[in-house]
Amino acid sequence: MENIYSNIYSFNKKTLKQTVKSLKQGNIAGLPTETVYGLAGNAYSKKAVIKIFKLKNRPKINPLIIHYHKLSKINKDVNVNKNFFKLYKKFCPGPLTFVLKKKKDSKIVSLATANLDTVAVRFPKHKVIRSILKFIDFPLAMPSANLSSSLSPVNAFDVFEDFGNKIKTIINGGSSKFGIESTVIDLTGKPKILRPGIISEKQIKRVLNTNLVFKKNKIRSPGMLKKHYSPGIPVIIGRKPIDHKYAYIVFGKKYKNNKNYFNLSKKGNLKEAAANLYKTMRKIKKKGYKKIFVSKIPNRGPGLAMNDRLKRASN
Ligand code: TXA
Ligand code: MG
Repeated sequence: MENIYSNIYSFNKKTLKQTVKSLKQGNIAGLPTETVYGLAGNAYSKKAVIKIFKLKNRPKINPLIIHYHKLSKINKDVNVNKNFFKLYKKFCPGPLTFVLKKKKDSKIVSLATANLDTVAVRFPKHKVIRSILKFIDFPLAMPSANLSSSLSPVNAFDVFEDFGNKIKTIINGGSSKFGIESTVIDLTGKPKILRPGIISEKQIKRVLNTNLVFKKNKIRSPGMLKKHYSPGIPVIIGRKPIDHKYAYIVFGKKYKNNKNYFNLSKKGNLKEAAANLYKTMRKIKKKGYKKIFVSKIPNRGPGLAMNDRLKRASN
């Protein structure tokens, strides 16, 4: 039988070399990170950045996160500050994205940052993306590897589901550890959380020693305002379905093992639940359910990020 996943590769010296070469040529690759899989291209190449927007069908007003190997690489592109250094020291590489002022002579393609005067910078931790970043002399523009407004991918086959053979390379780096996108924090002024994620507001507050602004309605990030993270079927939150023909996403040990119940974490562990959220929604859709109901999920730690995504999915 023919292998339909002919563009999914395991990670080794040979595929690392091929991926690096392909990115240098301006091609796009589906790559694993510790949060979700990304659609990566050279952030200094207009050709590559245009390809990313086209592939995702992403509105041009929604800027991309730019990914770097290490600190010394960002000086050409952004202005850093004290708060940035504090958070970098504590959480990087890891699931935290910083919005910083863009330098005038930065080579980052302006479409990548939606013509804003800021850049979202991230240092991912997954060993595959880190090895690749080490061998290239440009940063990677890398949004989540899904079609605009649908669910983020947490493994190589999820990426294939949305893009098939439209991209040359997808590297299989296993299931994403966190399964939910990075926290985005704006550090251009008073620290402001633009997108909740695995690194919580509390953890950030502890490091910065200051209160954070977290205004849900007044967000700078245009992508945050729209319907997003949608599985493609209606999502109803905080309610139990009246009929077994609808899927019910639950959390914690008090729930039965009904066929239409999908428990994100029987142990009631929010980190485990976050890692299972997108995976579970995809599974439910594949099983043919027409609606998803979701029980209440505690609004703390990773639960905050989950509730944020669920709310958007239910819009
Ligand atoms: O975990 C993640 O962050 C993943 C992995 C692949 O790194 N990436 C990701 O990218 O989630 P994306 O494009 O799906 O989401 C990026 C978010 C969007 O909400 C976008 O609006 C915001 O970051 N963003 C990017 N640049 C920004 C900027 N200059 N100012 C404000 N928000 C920005
Ligand atoms: Mg996304």
